[in-house]
Amino acid sequence: MSKRVAILLSGGGSNMVALCQSMTGDHPARPVLVMSNDPAAGGLQKAADMGIATDAVDHRPFKGDREAFEAALMEKLLAAKPDILCLAGFMRVLTPSFVRHWEGRALNIHPSLLPKYKGLNTHARALEAGDTEAGCTVHEVTAELDGGPILGQVRVPILTGDTPETLAARILPLEHQLYPQVLRRYADGDRAPVVLR
Ligand code: GRF
Repeated sequence: MSKRVAILLSGGGSNMVALCQSMTGDHPARPVLVMSNDPAAGGLQKAADMGIATDAVDHRPFKGDREAFEAALMEKLLAAKPDILCLAGFMRVLTPSFVRHWEGRALNIHPSLLPKYKGLNTHARALEAGDTEAGCTVHEVTAELDGGPILGQVRVPILTGDTPETLAARILPLEHQLYPQVLRRYADGDRAPVVLR
């Protein structure tokens, strides 16, 4: 039986699209729900256009009450009975208790060569540090922000004149290759890291 995948996003959802487009044919998983904390997130429309169920829990009315927001999110997620949860540009920090519920079943993509540059503004920080390489990482979600076991990584050289924008534009298409490859392996029960060149 196919693994059921739910995806959480906050923005345009290009990684979500790459994941969902990959889940066809003999792929061991299928998308069952795409959810957002922003009812206006562009990714929701893209998912709906692909015929995938969508939903949203707007975090704003919860006014910083993370537990209450997550309880509402969790209720909708659980109704979809996902086996795997993929964070794909989901911009809310999740509480340890929410994360614990999904531990061993949740993935995230992060635009840096973890363990470097957890959190935000990763490309700017890599440039500021004078790094010669940047990239992206898919990792398991644990209670430590961007700190779970690494399941896949892709590196790119930083070029003279790079800006956070040029780096992001070079790395995003590689995210779209990396995340589906990791998800496929993960859904097959294989946690050996994927290394793309
Ligand atoms: C990506 O850069 C991802 O690495 C980060 O958020 C961005 C999401 O982009 N976590 P998109 O919504 O998938 O286009």
